Amino acid sequence: MVQNFLKINKKIGSFKKKILVDGDKSLSIRWALLSSQGVGQSIAKNILKSEDLINTLNCLKKLGVKIKLKKNICIIEGVGINGFAYKKKIVLNAGNSGTLGRLILPLLIKSPYKIKIIGDKSLSRRDFSRVIEPLKKIGANFYPNKKKTLPIYIKGSDFLRPIYYEEEKGSAQCKSCVMLASINTPGQISIKAKKSRDHTERMFKELKIPIEIKKNRNLDFIKVSKPKLIRNFNFNIPGDISSSAFFIVLTLLSKGSSLVLKNININPSRMGVIRILNKMGAKIKIKKINYNVPADISSSAFFIVLTVLSENSKLIIKNVNINPSRVGIVTILKKMGANIIFKNIKNYKGEKNADIHVSSSKLLQPINCPSNLNSTAIDEFLVIFLVAAKAQGISKFKNLGELNKKESPRLKWGQKILKKIGIKTKLKKNSIKIFGNPNIKINKKIIIKDYLKDHRVFMTSVIAGLSFGGSWTIHDKDSIKTSFPNFLKIVNDLKK
Ligand code: S3P
Repeated sequence: MVQNFLKINKKIGSFKKKILVDGDKSLSIRWALLSSQGVGQSIAKNILKSEDLINTLNCLKKLGVKIKLKKNICIIEGVGINGFAYKKKIVLNAGNSGTLGRLILPLLIKSPYKIKIIGDKSLSRRDFSRVIEPLKKIGANFYPNKKKTLPIYIKGSDFLRPIYYEEEKGSAQCKSCVMLASINTPGQISIKAKKSRDHTERMFKELKIPIEIKKNRNLDFIKVSKPKLIRNFNFNIPGDISSSAFFIVLTLLSKGSSLVLKNININPSRMGVIRILNKMGAKIKIKKINYNVPADISSSAFFIVLTVLSENSKLIIKNVNINPSRVGIVTILKKMGANIIFKNIKNYKGEKNADIHVSSSKLLQPINCPSNLNSTAIDEFLVIFLVAAKAQGISKFKNLGELNKKESPRLKWGQKILKKIGIKTKLKKNSIKIFGNPNIKINKKIIIKDYLKDHRVFMTSVIAGLSFGGSWTIHDKDSIKTSFPNFLKIVNDLKK
């Protein structure tokens, strides 16, 4: 039997490497959900192949969407708005994923049947009233009435109405849920939202779904209206195959030549020319990639911190999404004295991606973390706390109540891990003070278990063991399958 725990017995040595981290979870889930509503085929490369994503694809398949997943390429045949076709009494399993559980609901608000939504133990304790309430106001029905957690049933309605919605938690899931409801709701939905990651807004713009955004320092004012249709996730107008045919033939007739024609429309009804030429012995291959999912900064965070805390080390993480609403970890760590730079910055499909260059830091300063950075680093605080643990002085993080509503109560788990490595903390309901020690030395056995299989607790513990030493047994190794299946492969690669 494969052991489901990991032992770490010594610090990692210095490393100088280039790594590629798994695809972004938020973007992968949003791409899949929106592509299902599109007209025609959408293709993504480097899609995150984790349990959260597999659950997303399985839910969509149950709703009648045809999906192929080969290696890290995913093809979705969109069914169009409200085009799901499914039997009565289906059950959708969101597994561990709050994003899936909360963002699939708005696509079901016209469902003629009751659909049951379930999740795993961790997701079943998380609050769903935050998305049920606005969707009820729009007209959807939920059963049992007043239930706030999964399992729940949703049944749609033909009488949907637009709402004005105030999002006060800084939750991208709540904001995105209401935004996605606009796909099925006539009229215009208005949202006043505390700042949070804005991937849905950027995708709406790319897909030409009607959206207006006004921003001030702390709030975003968003208006979204029902689109007539959603096109597939192909942002450039493709080239004409009939025009390409001349250059294809020229290449075939020129000795020793090869040619790549980029982004050509390959609608099957226009592909006769390729089929005929291939029958005559030509070698014409079609490679279609509409969307190349960049790496996840939340997954990169573990290796950024490992490098900051390790001696004489350097790391390049390739092609990471650096959307400003996600890069709080970099802002925070730089304030603490870390050496991190973005290079090779590229605009791609409404988002910004870059290579992240990071190197070891000798002296780390404590931070009084400004609360306006909280939403931009919401998934990274556990691992940021490790840097605070090594800083010279007291760090303060406040207004972080939302952390306890994640896959596990993460503010509490932050304190537990720090206690185990001998770092003093003061924990309140929404805040934590960390009394850093630049000379952390661990000579004891540490066991991490019973943490509701929160993937980020597991990975943070691994980084703590590799950075500070000690003898660790970290249970539930399979928790990484949720968001970052290649995590331990990369760890092993850095050890070589
Ligand atoms: C996410 C939003 C955040 C984050 C989660 C992914 C998203 O949750 O913690 O991992 O993709 O919208 P909240 O919206 O609940 O803060």
